[in-house]
Amino acid sequence: MPSLIRLKKLSIIEAEELLALSRKTFFDAFAHLNRPDDMQVYARKAFTLPQIKQELSNADSEFYFALVENEIAGYIKLNFNNSQTEFQDSEAMEIERIYILQNYQGKRIGGELLDFASQTAKLKSMKYIWLGVWEHNTNAIRFYQKNGFTIFSSHQFILGNDEQTDLLMRKQLEA
Ligand SMILES: CC(C)(COP(=O)(O)OP(=O)(O)OC[C@H]1O[C@@H](n2cnc3c(N)ncnc32)[C@H](O)[C@@H]1OP(=O)(O)O)[C@@H](O)C(=O)NCCC(=O)NCCS
Repeated sequence: MPSLIRLKKLSIIEAEELLALSRKTFFDAFAHLNRPDDMQVYARKAFTLPQIKQELSNADSEFYFALVENEIAGYIKLNFNNSQTEFQDSEAMEIERIYILQNYQGKRIGGELLDFASQTAKLKSMKYIWLGVWEHNTNAIRFYQKNGFTIFSSHQFILGNDEQTDLLMRKQLEA
C-alpha cells in the first residue's frame, strides 16, 4: 500500500507548532477521562515552550511530524540512551509519545509511525522498543498489540495529583 504520510524531523524551529499540537492532542485524548485540575497541573509542566525547546534540543530524542498533503496529522517522540524515561538501556528505544489528531485517527497513520519507529531502531542496532500506556487507554493498547507489542510490566504515573498505572509494552526487533 502506498504511504499516506510524509515524515518531517523536527528541530527547535518547530517548537511552537509542536507545543500547540502536543497540548491539543493530549487534551483531546485524556481530558474527558480525567479531572480538569489534574490535566492542568500536568500540562503546566509538560507543555511549556521552554520545556518543549529543551526536549527538542536533546540529542538523544527525535521528534517527527506525520504530514498528510502537507497538513500535520500527528507526531511521534523517540528516546534513546539516557533520555529514556526508564531503564536507560543503550540497546533499547522508547516511544515516549505518539499522537494522531482525531480527524486522522484510524487511517493507519499511527501504524506507519510505528513501522518507521521500528526501522529507526533497527538502523541504530537496537534490540527492542518499549513504551508506557495508561491501563485505561484500551484503544491504544489494542493498537500496540496489533503492531507486535506485548505487556511486560507496569509503573506508576502521576497526572497532577492522580496516581495512575501505565502498562509497559515492548516489541523485540529481529536482527
Ligand atoms: C492510538 C493512536 C496513536 C493510533 O493511531 P491511528 O492512526 O489512529 O491507528 P491506525 O489507524 O494505525 O490503527 C487503527 C487500529 O488501532 C485501534 N485504534 C486506536 N485508536 C483508534 C481510533 N481513535 N480510531 C480507530 N481505531 C483506533 C483500532 O484497534 C484499529 O484497529 P483496526 O485497524 O482493526 O480498525 C491514535 O488513535 C491516537 O493518537 N489516539 C489518541 C492518543 C493516544 O492514545 N496516544 C497513545 C498514547 S500511549
